[in-house]
Amino acid sequence: MYGTERRIKQTVPLLRARKGGTKLAALTAYDHGFAALMDQAGIDALLVGDSLGMVVQGQRSTLAVSIEDMVYHTRAVTSGVQSALVITDLPFLSYADGPTALASARRVVAAGAEMVKLEGAGVTLDVIKALSDRDVPVCAHLGLTPQSVHKLGGFKVQGRKQAAAERLLQDARAVEQAGAELLVLECVPSTLAARITAEVSIPTIGIGAGAQTDGQILVLHDVLGVTAGRRPRFVRNFLEGQISIEAAVQAYIAAVRDGSFPGKEHGYEMDPA
Ligand code: KIV
Repeated sequence: MYGTERRIKQTVPLLRARKGGTKLAALTAYDHGFAALMDQAGIDALLVGDSLGMVVQGQRSTLAVSIEDMVYHTRAVTSGVQSALVITDLPFLSYADGPTALASARRVVAAGAEMVKLEGAGVTLDVIKALSDRDVPVCAHLGLTPQSVHKLGGFKVQGRKQAAAERLLQDARAVEQAGAELLVLECVPSTLAARITAEVSIPTIGIGAGAQTDGQILVLHDVLGVTAGRRPRFVRNFLEGQISIEAAVQAYIAAVRDGSFPGKEHGYEMDPA
């Protein structure tokens, strides 16, 4: 059936309207072939993630990814997509202020991105507002923000202590207020992600954030068992037991929608008070 069925084009308003409804299933994409396959399998959104610095380019972090890299991969992905919403990451320091962010967004939107994703709150709130005021849809990203890896001291779960959890909750309210229309929550305790999801009116998309978010996202390579090094606890290899990559992607979408992924074992807990 997949490959022949024509699906409705997924848009920012359609995904926003899924808040609290059918869970959103998203994956990362970096090239034409896999993007077309995931689109035909029924994925709701594809993120051209700056994780490409790690999984495609083999670097230790996302920090060296350039706006040219994002433009190149966004073009490749959008050429394969008919229905899924395409979101592109703005790379490290390509949105340091409003004018810089608008110039970067212009380049990825010209390459086919329908929404841009950027990390953090704080000084980034003005940037979110500048983009949103100019009709560039923004997906915010809080929790473990990989572009802050050096400041965070590694790829670590965030918001485990009560004070940090409260700050994250405030940041989530602030990014919504600034104009963000989706919110990725990465590696935060499941109870905190559930609380944030209940308190903001935009859909939350979790990765290592438990089952109570409005949707899930994973890195494509992890879903297919192509994880270099140690496999993070929030990852499941959906290719195991399947006969094809299409079947694995369909299994991921089905598991997100029926709530069977992520399980409790894929999530994190708060530190005891
Ligand atoms: O770059 C990326 O792939 C991401 C996801 C992990 C959410 O930001």
